[in-house]
Amino acid sequence: MTGRFTVQIDGEEAMVAWGRLLGEALASSATLFFHGTLGSGKTTLCRGVLRTWGHLGAVKSPTYTLVEPYCYRGVDIYHFDLYRLGDPEELEYMGIRDYFDSDNICLVEWPERGRGILPDADLDVMLSSQGQGRLVELVASGSRGEHIIDKIRAAEDIVKTREQTN
Ligand SMILES: Nc1ncnc2c1ncn2[C@@H]1O[C@H](COP(=O)(O)OP(=O)(O)O)[C@@H](O)[C@H]1O
Ligand SMILES: [Mg+2]
Repeated sequence: MTGRFTVQIDGEEAMVAWGRLLGEALASSATLFFHGTLGSGKTTLCRGVLRTWGHLGAVKSPTYTLVEPYCYRGVDIYHFDLYRLGDPEELEYMGIRDYFDSDNICLVEWPERGRGILPDADLDVMLSSQGQGRLVELVASGSRGEHIIDKIRAAEDIVKTREQTN
């Protein structure tokens, strides 16, 4: 099945590393929604994605500004945190369509707050606490999302093969 993928990740460092894998699987145009309670690891995963694209510094949580823009390798990457969004209509005033319309990567924390206004995601990332770490579930919508999961699966297979031969 190409549409779903689940992985258990223990520890912050492993989470960033796996986020890098996720970042590598993204083409220059993708919308990802990150679901999970406060502290479930959404920003940590986004940090990994941004690192792949070339952002080595800290990742500001755009809780008050709602969005933090980045540009790497000629691709505009927007990291949203909609936790404090009062009304989805506010997104219209922000000019939300400009962010999502073109060949950008959009990473959205708390997408539930923008329901009805936000466009659909290519990939939903569900995070929950499990044991010492987090369970990460990916659900693809459409071929772009499925392609991302296929790439992750292939990358994980390479890692496993290396572990077995070492
Ligand atoms: N896979 C993981 N296993 C254990 N701790 C994690 C994992 N991912 C993130 N954390 C920790 O969880 C805390 C909250 O992470 P954060 O990414 O800020 O959550 P969110 O953005 O969902 O609120 C951080 O202290 C981080 O180190
Ligand atoms: Mg966060």
